[in-house]
Amino acid sequence: MTAPKYNSAAKYNYNPANCYKDRIRLCIFIVSVLCSFYILYLYTSSEMKEQNDRSSLNYTMPWFRIPRKDDDKIQLDQIEESSFGVHFVPPNDVFIPPDWSEEEMKYLPCLSRKCVCGYFKGKWKNESCIVRKGIKLQRAYRQEIRTLSDEKRKRWEKMLNELKTSGVFSRLARNHKYSGVHAGPAFLLWHREFLKRAELIYRKHMGPEDINMGVPYWDSSLDWPLPTPKHSIFFSKFLVGEVDEDGLVKNGPYHNWTTIEGRPQILRQFDKVEEGELLNDARIKWLITNPDIDMIFGASRPLVTCSNKKHLDPRMFELSHNYVHFFINGDMASSHGASNDILFYLHHSMMDWVLEFWRRNMQTRQQRESIYPVSDPNCYPMWHFAESFMPMLPPFTNRMGLSNGYTDEMYEFAPRPTCTKQKPDCGSNYLFCYVPSNQQDSPYCVSKVRLGGNCTGFEDHPVCFEAKCLRNPDAENEFSCQEKILNA
Ligand SMILES: *[C@@H]1O[C@H](CO)[C@@H](O)[C@H](O)[C@H]1NC(C)=O
Ligand SMILES: *[C@@H]1O[C@H](CO)[C@@H](O)[C@H](O)[C@H]1NC(C)=O
Ligand SMILES: *[C@@H]1O[C@H](CO)[C@@H](O)[C@H](O)[C@H]1NC(C)=O
Ligand SMILES: *[C@@H]1O[C@H](CO)[C@@H](O)[C@H](O)[C@H]1NC(C)=O
Repeated sequence: MTAPKYNSAAKYNYNPANCYKDRIRLCIFIVSVLCSFYILYLYTSSEMKEQNDRSSLNYTMPWFRIPRKDDDKIQLDQIEESSFGVHFVPPNDVFIPPDWSEEEMKYLPCLSRKCVCGYFKGKWKNESCIVRKGIKLQRAYRQEIRTLSDEKRKRWEKMLNELKTSGVFSRLARNHKYSGVHAGPAFLLWHREFLKRAELIYRKHMGPEDINMGVPYWDSSLDWPLPTPKHSIFFSKFLVGEVDEDGLVKNGPYHNWTTIEGRPQILRQFDKVEEGELLNDARIKWLITNPDIDMIFGASRPLVTCSNKKHLDPRMFELSHNYVHFFINGDMASSHGASNDILFYLHHSMMDWVLEFWRRNMQTRQQRESIYPVSDPNCYPMWHFAESFMPMLPPFTNRMGLSNGYTDEMYEFAPRPTCTKQKPDCGSNYLFCYVPSNQQDSPYCVSKVRLGGNCTGFEDHPVCFEAKCLRNPDAENEFSCQEKILNA
């Protein structure tokens, strides 16, 4: 199996004044080839021993559908490498410098509504920001994308298409492409700040009625229980689009999005990487109630010199986040290409929900702003340290990402969809309330399945979107969503 590319390779310290780019690329290429052989050598010699060490660690249900073992620590000579989570940019990349406009530089770093009011051309009066039509700027409201009304979601999709056409979305995507940080404590804070900035840009381009709409989140644990999660209604023309045989997005609001690398469609090649798996409820609960800060902020790939004796638990925050990227695969599976796909923003909005609920459950207000893992060069490079600057997100240091200002002032989260026996309703046409037949287990919300999709195991539930779950004519024990009329 080929290693997933999300945490993949190369160059962190990008210098825009660099005129030796081609030569450096050649060097990087040669070094990479040499390194690959060396890594292969290291890998084969240490493989047997490590397999013996870790054979007792095996995580399956309820955490994962497929058994998973702990990851390996990273060799020192790999610090600039793919496995370390530094963004890899392909050698044939056509470089367009990432940037922010002057206005964006002035307002996007804000962590209060007073500070950001001018960005929305609002007036600060009586402790509130009043924008067009007398509407008050509030915290952006982030809700599960399937719980938005169709009208509201379509207005959001229209705004995104306008930003895509005007080049603003691609400019935003490049800021992640050339600078996102991974595999250490800065990971979730960098992405938190990046998403906050993206959200402000989106809000500015919505009409005044929708100015308080946040980046919807995609709670992929709603799709996880399905027999074939890629057949979820989420991956249909009604929401984020369906793919053709090659994995190219063929319908839905983003079908005609040319990536910043120039491919005429977004790519999602489901099932190609074994590591892929959506979030599930067991892991989300484990994370948001976890007393061990290393399971949230810790190095997902520490260096071998890192003294932390704990094994690399595959359920930890960043790894749980990675599996969703691998599940989608294609653009989402490469760290430089992920920000091309709207799924990147929806997924990170969900991960930010997880972070926020961990903070609320496990820390006091004061601790939320002060506790940062020890800045240890034996575990990860210095860009993960508390006082280091976030690349492309000036003037932020990593520590500033701990501010309570994010959720005091800038955004809030709607509860994740839930249901009960008394009220078996998930608040969306795209979701249904799964009521287990045994009396002990509580009902929970699950995504519906699109037409033609696999609904095996859910025959007795309203699992199909505007269709019926019927036996497959050509597969004895399999069921699929079929049109009601044909089979009435
Ligand atoms: C992990 O555990 C499950 C169930 O306990 C077992 O079926 C599976 O073979 C184990 N996998 C590995 C790789 O040890
Ligand atoms: C200012 O806001 C407060 C609370 O939001 C409100 O009670 C008060 O009437 C407002 N004052 C004016 C002058 O609008
Ligand atoms: C995609 O096509 C729709 C019409 O089908 C159009 O409104 C939208 O602007 C297009 N988006 C892009 C990014 O070209
Ligand atoms: C449908 O789901 C069943 C139950 O999980 C599974 O055995 C089957 O392989 C799936 N069929 C397809 C076509 O994915």
